[in-house]
Amino acid sequence: MADTEGYVDQAVAGLAEPQPMYKALRESTPVFRSPQAVVLSRLADIEMALKHTELFSSNMDAVDLGNVRPLIPLQIDPPEHAKYRRILDPLFTPREMAKREPRVTELVNEMIDRFVDRGECDFHEEFAVPLPCTVFLQLLGLPLEDLDQFLEWKDGVIRPEGESGYDRRHEATAPAAQQIYDYFERAIEDHIARPRDDVLSSLIDAKVEGRPLTHEEILDICFLFLIAGLDTVTDSLDCFFVYLARHPDHRHQLVEQPDILPSAIEELLRWETPVPGVVRVAMDDVEVGGCPISKGERVSPLLGAANTDPAEFPDPELVDFCRNPNRHRAFGGGPHRCLGSHLARMELRVALREFHRRIPDYEIKPGTQLTYTAALRSVESLPLTFPVPT
Ligand code: HEM
Repeated sequence: MADTEGYVDQAVAGLAEPQPMYKALRESTPVFRSPQAVVLSRLADIEMALKHTELFSSNMDAVDLGNVRPLIPLQIDPPEHAKYRRILDPLFTPREMAKREPRVTELVNEMIDRFVDRGECDFHEEFAVPLPCTVFLQLLGLPLEDLDQFLEWKDGVIRPEGESGYDRRHEATAPAAQQIYDYFERAIEDHIARPRDDVLSSLIDAKVEGRPLTHEEILDICFLFLIAGLDTVTDSLDCFFVYLARHPDHRHQLVEQPDILPSAIEELLRWETPVPGVVRVAMDDVEVGGCPISKGERVSPLLGAANTDPAEFPDPELVDFCRNPNRHRAFGGGPHRCLGSHLARMELRVALREFHRRIPDYEIKPGTQLTYTAALRSVESLPLTFPVPT
């Protein structure tokens, strides 16, 4: 285990092209002690850490997002964790998500309508940010006027001003967190008074071990949805469109063969890994790859490194839209594997299909310097230019 400062901080902070760093880490120091966490970059170690939640927990000590109780289900360890997944999984099946696809298709086209005749857009601001947030509001049955407020709170807990990395101060995230709790408290009351066909009403009706969820449990689930389901899709859209703008051959493949979209999305998720790493806390003194880790230390399995490990992916640096098999870990692994993967895939599929149908050619505005945000790989702004369709 080495202490080569800077290395991982940059990788975890989300550089524009982190893949060479993943490779260097995996090959030189696969268990690496950075000032913030012990970073794991070998697929086998990452799989082990994600699976063994009794040794590597994602409880409240792993990340502080201003929450006052554990987020459900992420910060609940097995076996208790399973009782929540049993009620949540059925709400996010591919079948349930397919029912929402027509509305998401409309929404995506409404967004494109707003800029298509301009010949340019800020893809991040005008598409990648509002799309998942609007889908989320619809899914939970919340008023669309709350969009801007939601975006502010989400950033307040994920990217609090002046803070980065895992060692955020609770005071930095707590004010936005409290507003999120208050908002959902009111939304739950409103849904109890007037039940409807949405995820929040389903949570109110759900039974866990024969009893309804408490208010607090519903709040702790909604809070996590807000953190887990918005930024991640924004990050994926940003990363994908930067890649496709810079690789016209790959883009043409999507335009000419839309059938390959599902496997192209898996490959872009693998290569870009928009959530580059997750965080755990060691529950005991433990050794990984011959390196001692002390109880209470933070450990970060680097999903981006797992996704480019030649132990699983032949020719990992090749971006092949037909790669098969493609068992990437962009959605994590083990019991906490992403609950919203089918929702995310549907949003990404509709977005890529409709955008390329209407705007097949685009480039990043010449002279643009892309700035990637910390921890999760989105860009602060992504100006695209394209021919105005006739
Ligand atoms: C492309 C977009 C997405 C990516 C890359 C992604 C990635 C991830 C990853 C890596 C984890 C594991 C976290 C960990 O082990 O610490 C996770 C968990 C989770 N994700 Fe996603 N996610 C995405 C979209 C979504 C969406 C749209 C939702 C909406 C509900 C969602 C909800 C969740 C939840 C609730 C968990 C916690 C699951 C558990 O603890 O059992 N995600 N996601």
